[in-house]
Amino acid sequence: TSTPVTATPATVTVTGAAGKIAYSLLFRLASGLVFGPGTPVRLRLLDIPSAVVAAEGVAMEIEDCALPLVESIEITDDVDTAFDGAKAAFLVGARPRGKGMERADLLTANGAIFREQGRAINAHAADDVRVVVVGNPANTNAYIAHRHAPDVPAGRFTALMRLDHNRALSQLATRLGAPVADLDGVVVWGNHSATQFPDVSYLTRRGEPVTSGLDEEWLADTFIPRVANRGAEIISVRGSSSAASAAGAAVDQMRDWVHGTSGEGWTTVALPSEGQYGTVPGVVTGLPCRSRGAQWEVVEGLAIGDFQRARIDASVAELVSERDAVHGLGLAD
Ligand code: NAD
Ligand code: LMR
Repeated sequence: TSTPVTATPATVTVTGAAGKIAYSLLFRLASGLVFGPGTPVRLRLLDIPSAVVAAEGVAMEIEDCALPLVESIEITDDVDTAFDGAKAAFLVGARPRGKGMERADLLTANGAIFREQGRAINAHAADDVRVVVVGNPANTNAYIAHRHAPDVPAGRFTALMRLDHNRALSQLATRLGAPVADLDGVVVWGNHSATQFPDVSYLTRRGEPVTSGLDEEWLADTFIPRVANRGAEIISVRGSSSAASAAGAAVDQMRDWVHGTSGEGWTTVALPSEGQYGTVPGVVTGLPCRSRGAQWEVVEGLAIGDFQRARIDASVAELVSERDAVHGLGLAD
């Protein structure tokens, strides 16, 4: 409580405000975990009409925390109101995947939501808006939203792959018996789906390359499928999709974007590709990224071997097929 609250307030929009992820996310935002302890937040909560009352209940709980950084909370079911002046937008609201469903099944259900929100962001958000799409299929939803926001630079639309990145880091830390903070150089290429490629080729521990403890068999048979299928594993074990870990990753992604990543380290962000590392321009793919506090910069010059090439290409091919499917449905034209 010793930090003075002096900075200009940040207007933050969270969609799906009555849902499970938002219930973790909103309290972290309201506590200053993204913008810092000196920046007040104006929270905009968007949900569908039938969920607005529940969103009001969440807002009441935020009020009851008496958090000094919360300047205002506005609850709405109107997409244009929700994004008015937004500096940061977490697009969480969508139908979550149930048991046995694949992300492709969600394209039709969720595509229309992101078309409308892209349009509203284009019309009403701040010029330097930062968008993190969480709702699945996250990469292609970000693609759709960006297609409907022609005045917003492509790099302002990201999808959440920090959760996959964090999952990979945690599995590696356990395997190596190392603190998570000692590890760097992980990247998760491709789609936030079972085709994703969590890649340890550049892994370092306290700045030194990791040369032992990660044999090829463990990587191919355990690590990669474990990380890539972790969302489904959580659904099966918990009975409901990941929520607090997703909110934590969304906070990590937005915080690092706003404040910058440290040193020469990087993280994974899904961004509209400019063709880096042989990915297909336009699709929203996981890439190694740094921020210096303004925009994400893709780390250049990493060597790509044959094993990596095949895995990256397979996941990008899935993104291309999702892209083609949404164009076929008229959701991205
Ligand atoms: P949830 O069902 O608990 O909440 C979703 C909320 O979105 C509901 O309140 C619903 O009313 C609202 N909503 C639906 N349509 C909306 C619209 N048009 N505008 C605004 N709000 C709308 O779901 P959840 O557990 O919070 O998950 C949300 C999404 O996040 C799902 O798509 C889930 O698959 C996805 N997810 C992504 C990741 C990731 O790493 N990218 C991780 C976990 C979950
Ligand atoms: C996750 O990765 O936990 C989410 O995307 C939920 C899912 O459907 O896998």
